[in-house]
Amino acid sequence: MRDLETTVLYNRPLAGETWQLGLLAPDYDQLARPGQFVMLRLTAGSDPLLRRPFGIFRCRTLPPLCTGQAPQPAVELLYKVVGRGTRLLSSLHSGDRVALLGPLGRGFDLTDCAPTALLVAGGIGVAPLYLLAEQLLRQGRQVRLLLGGRRRDDILAVTEFERLGVETYVATDDGSLGEQGLVTQVLERKLVRFPQASVFACGPMAMLRAVERLCRQAAVPLQVSLEALMACGVGACLGCVVPGQAHQEDQPDYRCTCKQGPVFDAQELLWPQEDSQ
Ligand code: FES
Repeated sequence: MRDLETTVLYNRPLAGETWQLGLLAPDYDQLARPGQFVMLRLTAGSDPLLRRPFGIFRCRTLPPLCTGQAPQPAVELLYKVVGRGTRLLSSLHSGDRVALLGPLGRGFDLTDCAPTALLVAGGIGVAPLYLLAEQLLRQGRQVRLLLGGRRRDDILAVTEFERLGVETYVATDDGSLGEQGLVTQVLERKLVRFPQASVFACGPMAMLRAVERLCRQAAVPLQVSLEALMACGVGACLGCVVPGQAHQEDQPDYRCTCKQGPVFDAQELLWPQEDSQ
């Protein structure tokens, strides 16, 4: 983990309210593991943004700006403009400075992954799955990505995944891209076709609950990356706890999303008995 002040390389709209932020980040291609995140803080101005968590989308090396300069190692984040903090973030320009803490948290565990991996993303939940897809492909696994959202603008980074060689399937609520319906309906069909798959998911809690139920019924392993509000990102404030399976009966047990997650084996967490979706 590193705490550094670094430079914005690019910050541009991707689709709808979602933006793509590239930061100068030496060694992140070596340090960052799939599923990890960073905490980001604006450093300039009288109204600084609190530290906020962002899943690491990918690490890249950008060509030098001019002859004689070195290539620029970058970490890329995706974020959605949803409030004042992210609106401030979207006003950053190339050359601005930000404080970057990371990589943080526990990422995906790939040790026992099946030959076929199904990655399920809801909207911006696709962010932590790119590094995962890259690594799984490097290990010789077949990777399929199932992307869901309310509408076309919620479906992100399809081209980036397809360039890796990942087969992608898209479902939107309004049918404006891909098939009309829920991404979990696509997952249900894929689990029939690939009953031995390993599943990895990130997205809204309602989607994760439905994914968990399907994977439990199909008896396939599932890891989920949780999106949580985080104030410190390092296990100090306990603002990010989620209910986990109790080690002892009638003793509630909680997991710290930033330190013990954000990726959990689905069996570690406490899921509602009945899914309302
Ligand atoms: Fe502070 Fe997790 S964000 S403990």
